[in-house]
Amino acid sequence: MAHIIVVGNEKGGAGKSTVSMHVATALARLGHRVGALDLDLRQRSFGRYMENRRAYLDREGIDLPMPDYRELPDIAPDQLEPGENIHDRRIAEAIAGMEQQKDFILIDCPGSHTRLSQVAHTLADTLITPLNDSFIDFDLLARHDGATGKILGPSVYSEMVWSARQMRAQAGLKPIDWVVLRNRLGAQQMHNKRKMGEALENLSRRIGFRVAPGFSERVIFRELFPNGLTLLDLRDIGVTGMNISNVAARQELRDLMVALKLPGVEVAF
Ligand SMILES: Nc1ncnc2c1ncn2[C@@H]1O[C@H](COP(=O)(O)OP(=O)(O)O)[C@@H](O)[C@H]1O
Ligand SMILES: [Mg+2]
Repeated sequence: MAHIIVVGNEKGGAGKSTVSMHVATALARLGHRVGALDLDLRQRSFGRYMENRRAYLDREGIDLPMPDYRELPDIAPDQLEPGENIHDRRIAEAIAGMEQQKDFILIDCPGSHTRLSQVAHTLADTLITPLNDSFIDFDLLARHDGATGKILGPSVYSEMVWSARQMRAQAGLKPIDWVVLRNRLGAQQMHNKRKMGEALENLSRRIGFRVAPGFSERVIFRELFPNGLTLLDLRDIGVTGMNISNVAARQELRDLMVALKLPGVEVAF
């Protein structure tokens, strides 16, 4: 059975689609069979990223490992059982169509609370939550007293993960391994960075997640999308003399892949 990786955070612009593309492609490059779904049916950034990759490979006549990206199936209303939710059925069918053939299924979620995203969280063996290094983003995980640094209580998103965990426990499924990943870390802002680090460490023990080494703010992440490329593809498309920033970014991706501790994955790049 496939190991399901969900990338979620109810905030837009946190880096979910970028992380989804990099993790899915890294796994495909390591020789695993990877299925991919985009639940952001409106923006479809992850789906668009995959389409750009396909178009680039066709145009250039090169072959690079590619996750098997699938659209959610359409379900006609008359195919539903009485009382059955259409979103639940769409995601269930998408997964049923892949779980026997794939080692991993990567699911990118929208930056808002939707039924699809909620269901996906209950299916997660691993949940990755990218988080911008800002207390505005932290506020979706927990309410935090700015003066004392004290955690006052969980916020909407961590409440949702908590209920997904409850549902999994009731169904006898293994617990979600929740990994929070700091994204777009700046070279400056040492004070904010340290404060965020402390707040996350503090919160991780309270609500049960691990903090993975994160990604720095780097222009390269924005340049890769139009051709559907990832940091790991640069050498194969003939980029020689990788600059220091690209090498460092690749190392950050490597560190993330190691930190995820995915079953059967030996990170060799
Ligand atoms: N580490 C990073 N450095 C620079 N830009 C980044 C980084 N991570 C993401 N971005 C950019 O931030 C924007 C939002 O990222 P995206 O992955 O679409 O977030 P989400 O899916 O959570 O809405 C995109 O323009 C993306 O290229
Ligand atoms: Mg997105």
